[in-house]
Amino acid sequence: MTAGEIRQQFIDFFKDKNHKFVPSSSVVPLEDPTLLFTNAGMNQFKDIFLEKGTRSYKRAVNSQKCIRVSGKHNDVEEVGHDTYHHTFFEMLGNWSFGDYYKKEAIEWAWELFTKVWKLPKEKLYATVYTTDDEAADLWASQTDINSDHILRFGDKDNFWEMGNTGPCGPCSEIHIDLGEEYCDKKDTKHICQVNGECGRFIELWNLVFIQYNRDDSGKLHPLPKKHVDTGAGFERIVAVLQNKHSNYATDVFMPLIDKIAEITKTDYKKAVDKSPYHVIADHVRMLTFSIADGGMPSNEGRGYVMRRILRRAARYGRKLNISKPFIYKIVPVLVKNMGDFYPEIADRQTHIQSVIKAEEEHFNRTLDRGLEIFDKIKEELRAKKKKIIPGEEVFKLYDTYGFPVDLTGILAEENGLSLDAAGFEKEMEAQKNRARSASKFDARQINQTDWIIFEDTADSEFVGYEKLSIETEITRYHMDNDTLHIVLKQTPFYAESGGQVGDKGTLSGEGFELQVLDTRKENEHIIHICKSPGQFNPETTKVLAEVLQSGRMDTAKNHTATHLLHAALRKVLGEHVQQAGSLVEAERLRFDFTHFNKIMPDQLQEIETIVNQKIQLNTTIQIAREKLTDAKKKGRYGLIR
Ligand code: ALA
Repeated sequence: MTAGEIRQQFIDFFKDKNHKFVPSSSVVPLEDPTLLFTNAGMNQFKDIFLEKGTRSYKRAVNSQKCIRVSGKHNDVEEVGHDTYHHTFFEMLGNWSFGDYYKKEAIEWAWELFTKVWKLPKEKLYATVYTTDDEAADLWASQTDINSDHILRFGDKDNFWEMGNTGPCGPCSEIHIDLGEEYCDKKDTKHICQVNGECGRFIELWNLVFIQYNRDDSGKLHPLPKKHVDTGAGFERIVAVLQNKHSNYATDVFMPLIDKIAEITKTDYKKAVDKSPYHVIADHVRMLTFSIADGGMPSNEGRGYVMRRILRRAARYGRKLNISKPFIYKIVPVLVKNMGDFYPEIADRQTHIQSVIKAEEEHFNRTLDRGLEIFDKIKEELRAKKKKIIPGEEVFKLYDTYGFPVDLTGILAEENGLSLDAAGFEKEMEAQKNRARSASKFDARQINQTDWIIFEDTADSEFVGYEKLSIETEITRYHMDNDTLHIVLKQTPFYAESGGQVGDKGTLSGEGFELQVLDTRKENEHIIHICKSPGQFNPETTKVLAEVLQSGRMDTAKNHTATHLLHAALRKVLGEHVQQAGSLVEAERLRFDFTHFNKIMPDQLQEIETIVNQKIQLNTTIQIAREKLTDAKKKGRYGLIR
């Protein structure tokens, strides 16, 4: 049976039981700030569990693209060292949203495993949460599993959570005993057992009974309804059904491994250490799928994780004696293998390959430059007869030359040196502090009790799209030595946001006229930052708020121009272009964006022409307020940061 057939059988089995097939969601969850990557099939249904969303169906089945390289679920260190953990994998799952519960979930998992796929019952084990008598009884009464094979475990193994917060609940897992020869623990004290951390007993399927939501403070709240969320490791099941000793020996990975051997002109079968092939085959999947779904290697967050994975693969390539870019050449094989079921990788193959190739080239440049500097540091240490690389040097390599700290660590080890990790952390902390103090004004620094409050309104109403001058009232103010912070009931002043600078202008009332130097937003308050005219003591709270018109109109034009530029960039360079920051002032604009290559002169020309043509159309601007999700659906990407 091929991997493709196995995936389809899982889906069909549950379709026959009235489950709706729901395609995998993006592995890059742009909508969920709690996650860098989709880490489980249930992520896309989180809103249903939390009663924030609904669907037209109560039962679902799917095969979800998952990445577990960060946060609560992180398997990256295992990859390449064992045969069954991956950075990217497919999770087969079935769900009940307030519909069936433990009985059916257990019965059907057993039916599929033992009747359809005919896995040997005597080798299967079921685990349940320590106190979950109901699940234990169901395993005993609804299946013919060996009763000694129903085991209880605690929070670590049998209580499943997607992250530090969110839906969760007790779970019941099915494990298989692959046989003594699969144990990979050399330690003589090791005992092979379920959850015993060796390759002999491995988990195949997890049935989660979602019934709680964990909040920010760590408290569990019962959910109004009870749900089923299951996840089976596709690659592991394929290995078992194809009778292979390792996930890498299945038709999911072998075509990739063959390609790696071909490119590196090496012999996989004869290789004593197979880990480079495994790591590269694994990582190319992670990279391909994350790039297809809009991820881009970068220096931050998700992009940084992708960059590290690529660099890890490139480093393992060096173990196979290849240092020029090669990872991108494996992508077509993956597309051939999986592009039918996941057409996004076929549709975006050229883009994926260009991004990977450019990143491999970038890494080589970084490596060459970093190695030069590292050699200098090494020589200096040798001259001084020292063996520890100072924290400042490690930081400089990282900060100025983009040289990853883990790489510095590896090189240090190879050269019999070590890193001053504490010194490096100190430098990192100092850099963070520099960044913090560089931000000019932070209204959070103003204590609530330091405000003089006339009227405790929840927020300030912004009316500046319609008017640039209004009569209104001061609701609160705060004065320190030379700066006055004023909040108004309504205001035409635009507060700095989306890169557009805050408005300047005047606030005048009885007995005072104030110059507004800047406008900022803090929570829902729009704060006017004014030069303080000595003792400010307004006789009434009434003011005339006037925005400096010329400045605002020019700034607004430049702001609109950033959206035109963003759209033109996406058109010419590709849909992956995302805003990474911007500055919009009256005189100029700057737009930072993500792209993996240099822009060619003809591309620059084309971008400029598109923007200029749009400006010359002199189109009337329409201002609308929409929910972020609606705006995204309508493709108003230029507005979304
Ligand atoms: N959400 C469960 C898991 O990821 C099924 O294991």
